[in-house]
Amino acid sequence: TLTQAEKAAVVAIWGKIAAQIDALGTESLERLFSNYPQTKTYFPHFDLSQGSAQLHGHGSKVLGAIGEAVKNIDNITGALATLSELHAYILRVDPVNFKLLSHCILCSVAAHFPNDFTPEVHAAWDKFLSQISSVLTEKYR
Ligand code: HEM
Repeated sequence: TLTQAEKAAVVAIWGKIAAQIDALGTESLERLFSNYPQTKTYFPHFDLSQGSAQLHGHGSKVLGAIGEAVKNIDNITGALATLSELHAYILRVDPVNFKLLSHCILCSVAAHFPNDFTPEVHAAWDKFLSQISSVLTEKYR
């Protein structure tokens, strides 16, 4: 679990991310699909060309869910319970893919806010995103 200092570091930069949810979400997905093309197999029904409306819409949803986790940082499991069931039981996304997406989100945040992305913020966000991934994959067991 996150320490108080790590929670503070996650929350500190969230305000800036929240103002650019669409851009950051879309960029994170573009990084995911171009760096790890195998992840595209979960989206056969999407137009995944760069800047497509579906990429923007889905990117906003993904970062929106991360925003819910930020707002409920003391109860991430509860905040993401429905999404956890969706990814495990219906979508059946292989857990390895969560590490890949988390990495791409981290890169997007770092690229947009280089001055805020201190080693402490980097480490806190890395831990926070892996906690979200644990919640979204815990139903698989
Ligand atoms: C759907 C969040 C990781 C594949 C969704 C939705 C959200 C979401 C909010 C929309 C749910 C709805 O419409 O009710 C997240 C978060 C993730 C994550 C926060 C981790 C940080 C992944 C990964 C994959 C994936 C790693 C696969 C590579 C999908 C698919 C859908 C979906 C296929 C359904 C898309 C559609 O048909 O609209 N996710 N997701 N997700 N997610 Fe994830």
